[in-house]
Amino acid sequence: MRAWHLVPAGDVYRIEQTNRPVPAPGPGRVILQVRAASLNYRDQIILRKLAGRDATGRVPLSDGAGEVAAVGPGVTRVKVGDRVAGCFFQSWLGGRFEMRHHQQDLGGTIDGMLCEYADLSAEGVVPIPSYLSFEEAACLPCAGLTAWYSLMNRGRMQPGDSVLVLGTGGVSIFALQLAVAQGCPVYVTSKSDAKLDRCRTLGATHTVNYQTFPDWDREIWKLSQQRGVDHVVEVGGPGTLGQSLGCIAPGGHIALIGVLTGFGPPQSSLFPLVGRNANISGIYVGSRADFEALNQFLEVRQIHPVIDRAFSFGDAPAAYDYVATGDHFGKVVIRM
Ligand SMILES: NC(=O)c1ccc[n+]([C@@H]2O[C@H](COP(=O)([O-])OP(=O)(O)OC[C@H]3O[C@@H](n4cnc5c(N)ncnc54)[C@H](OP(=O)(O)O)[C@@H]3O)[C@@H](O)[C@H]2O)c1
Repeated sequence: MRAWHLVPAGDVYRIEQTNRPVPAPGPGRVILQVRAASLNYRDQIILRKLAGRDATGRVPLSDGAGEVAAVGPGVTRVKVGDRVAGCFFQSWLGGRFEMRHHQQDLGGTIDGMLCEYADLSAEGVVPIPSYLSFEEAACLPCAGLTAWYSLMNRGRMQPGDSVLVLGTGGVSIFALQLAVAQGCPVYVTSKSDAKLDRCRTLGATHTVNYQTFPDWDREIWKLSQQRGVDHVVEVGGPGTLGQSLGCIAPGGHIALIGVLTGFGPPQSSLFPLVGRNANISGIYVGSRADFEALNQFLEVRQIHPVIDRAFSFGDAPAAYDYVATGDHFGKVVIRM
């Protein structure tokens, strides 16, 4: 089968196409014929070694969806032909996170989805919503689930809560869609007025260009009638956390998700958390149980993930380059 894998290239990696045998399913395993995969900023982190992680020889990408091509002995959860997606953490089925799950993350410690056939744990797949294409379903395992887990599980988002999403990448656009579906006013920041216009068509109520307004937290504060927002989908990290704290409502919830501004310490005081009796949660994707809950919600609400562009399997390097530009809106996928 065809697969891409990570090959050292100086201080970073590049992806290189290779041939591998089609895997045979062992006990408790399933072979997924991958029909589509999607990229996340995490794949840039791994490619550029921003987290210093050794992934030599690894098949990249956590996110993929397809059809079960074969099942190993003892597998009863799924059968050949089922439409499923892989779980980012193959072993986190539900409950509290445990450190051992870090050894079971697709496209990181174990092989991921940028290949024609993926060898997965039968426990580590979930049926995909029936109304979604494979391309759309391939957007769910990391970006979709992270947005869901942040807002619905850890944030307990209620209809009418206000939600701020930073930027218009995969996680943020999912969060916007989920919040709109839940009847929540949504605030969005972006460097692009055109992207902000698109957010309004998706239901965003307030938008701020963070380049035009570098003090965007003050704008959010003003737009919220000096009340602040109930939830922040914090994908920026150390460079944006101070401003997220500047516009969180008393008792509000910040889902600390991303590292778009790096991995360093926060560039401002954390004291507003205290002064506002606010909450902050460290988020790492979510469990299989959360993924199943997301899919139930999607079946009812019929939300379609926003795909900016689809690339062919052979064009995977171009897909990586495109995500690196930050020009995309929502998700970038690869079709098999
Ligand atoms: N902890 C987890 O479980 C988890 C899961 C998924 C993702 N993440 C992290 O969350 C972040 C987003 O991931 P993603 O895959 O959604 O990324 P993505 O699709 O690549 O989104 C990138 C977008 O973020 C926006 N952005 C960049 N720098 C920004 C800044 N300083 N302030 C505000 N917006 C900024 C830009 O949108 P505009 O063009 O609109 O400005 C950019 O296009 C990454 O750091 C990723 O590693 C973490």
